[in-house]
Amino acid sequence: MCGIVAYAGLEKAGPILFDTLKRLEYRGYDSAGIAVRCNGGIEVFKSAGRIADLEKAYKKMGSPGERMGIGHTRWATHGRPSDENAHPHISGDLAIVHNGIIENYLELRDELTALGYEFLSETDSEVLAHLINHNYRSDLSQAVSKAIQVVEGSYAVAVLSARSPYIVCARKDSPLVIGIGQGSNYVASDVPALLPYTRSVARLRDKEMALISAGQVTILDSQGQPRDLDPERIDWDVDAAEKGGYPHFMLKEIHEQPRALSETLAGRISEIEGDVRLDLGMNPWEISTLQRISIVACGTSYHAGLVARYFFPRAVGLPTDVEVASEFHHIQLRPGALLVTISQSGETADTLVALKKAKTCGVRSMAITNVVGSTVTSLVDSNIFTRCGPEIGVAATKTFTGQLAALYLLGIRLGRARNHLMPEEGRKMLAEFSRLPGLVQTVLRKKDQIEEIAKSYARFGSYFFIGRDVLYPIALEGALKMKEIAYIPAEGYAAGELKHGPLALITEGTPVVALATCGKKIQSNMKEVRARGGELIAFATEGDQDIPKIAGTVVELPATRPIYSAVLASVAVQMLAYYTARELGCEIDKPRNLAKSVTVE
Ligand code: G6P
Repeated sequence: MCGIVAYAGLEKAGPILFDTLKRLEYRGYDSAGIAVRCNGGIEVFKSAGRIADLEKAYKKMGSPGERMGIGHTRWATHGRPSDENAHPHISGDLAIVHNGIIENYLELRDELTALGYEFLSETDSEVLAHLINHNYRSDLSQAVSKAIQVVEGSYAVAVLSARSPYIVCARKDSPLVIGIGQGSNYVASDVPALLPYTRSVARLRDKEMALISAGQVTILDSQGQPRDLDPERIDWDVDAAEKGGYPHFMLKEIHEQPRALSETLAGRISEIEGDVRLDLGMNPWEISTLQRISIVACGTSYHAGLVARYFFPRAVGLPTDVEVASEFHHIQLRPGALLVTISQSGETADTLVALKKAKTCGVRSMAITNVVGSTVTSLVDSNIFTRCGPEIGVAATKTFTGQLAALYLLGIRLGRARNHLMPEEGRKMLAEFSRLPGLVQTVLRKKDQIEEIAKSYARFGSYFFIGRDVLYPIALEGALKMKEIAYIPAEGYAAGELKHGPLALITEGTPVVALATCGKKIQSNMKEVRARGGELIAFATEGDQDIPKIAGTVVELPATRPIYSAVLASVAVQMLAYYTARELGCEIDKPRNLAKSVTVE
């Protein structure tokens, strides 16, 4: 977890470090800090709390510092959020910022303490500072190289020394990108932080190091040999990583869904053949001999996987199971399985660990991710990229529906390749699929009605979401969104399960969101709620005559095939959670205790 940045260039480092850190706040924001070169030494400014507060304090002190520095925004793992635990950590004349977890830190801490190093924080990261200092003679890169050899765990680290002409960065299992500018070079945990400064980006690969100075970037591969920078050009609009007039990134990203869906579909549909153009990295024989599909993911991405659990058996004809990555350890895969990992960031530690374990079983692997060049992409046999652009709000929105779109494409492709899905059915599915961006626009136009509902129920204190079939995962997702950003205890339930327990919690006025656009069976479950005094808020298909007779509040969603109704219902529950959180004055883009990219197990 956490975000790190570094800068070496022609400008004063402090303001650039603060600006880039703010763009990484979605990775963690309980404390922050920077270290800058200053009068032949290093000055550190750090504190618990938000970056903006620290920046104000720094400005009050006259914005000291020269043209080289490092910065950190923290999501606490080892040690509570406090001034002492905030990064950078200092040892001798060097400072470090670290994202990741040093697993053998207790052992290292004992050894370093015995050698006379004094620890000021409770963090695992501080051992890295002392370890590098302990190995530091004249060349900082050698010191970092020696230190990381004894460290177990994951790290993206940037090291600044008062006497080194360059900053040294290194990574293992935590992301790090280098921005190459004109006389100024940058480092960050993620691309959006760099967009206002440069579009030329080189991704540091696992176990590589980089030496960053104003005029030069040198990358050393895992063998310590210099390699070509191989920069890629990022063509995202700066606006894509800024709010563009919306009060929150989340609302902007909700509204970007029609475009994100169109982009994810673009060029991938072959209407005549009723098929999808996707390179799955498998030949026809390999596809035809697949025996099952196993999906692994976390959080919202896991919910996307749950939708595929309904869709794949129908479209592909293969049994499909889905597991949260942190519980994947008990699963034994057999060759013949296709492992599909779903991860917006491509960096979630639990997902990467599960993937590595699955690979030891000799299965084929695939990733659905939004981040080209992320760690997951280099671990799998093939990738399907969602093309949603950067997502900044911690609560996933456009990348979730983008994942659903990618799963639909994958299902159709596999179904067609296995002759389970006939061309005519493929054509029909794809024709309807092409309408989805427009249908999502229609849902977005329900804003006023959904906002009104959100205001009416925001203060009730709990929420239920129920759905059946592909809408059951969306009920889970709606409840997750409500918890994440509005801090309202919310339960997502398979509607048929209500009667097996949760009904006991339904009392007069309990808001129950019924996702009722997929089949009629949910109607009896809704009646059970109504009979106990629950307030039903139904998302129903346009023109449905039955639902208004059961539910007090009905929001109509456009008619579509049941499988695609998952996308429309997702957008609706995202809006409900968003306007509820807004009504309650919550910090929507950066909910407490959460972070967008969780790079620790
Ligand atoms: C964090 C985020 C969630 C996200 C999950 C998985 O918990 O707060 O919004 O769904 O990680 O992230 P991934 O990048 O793997 O999809």
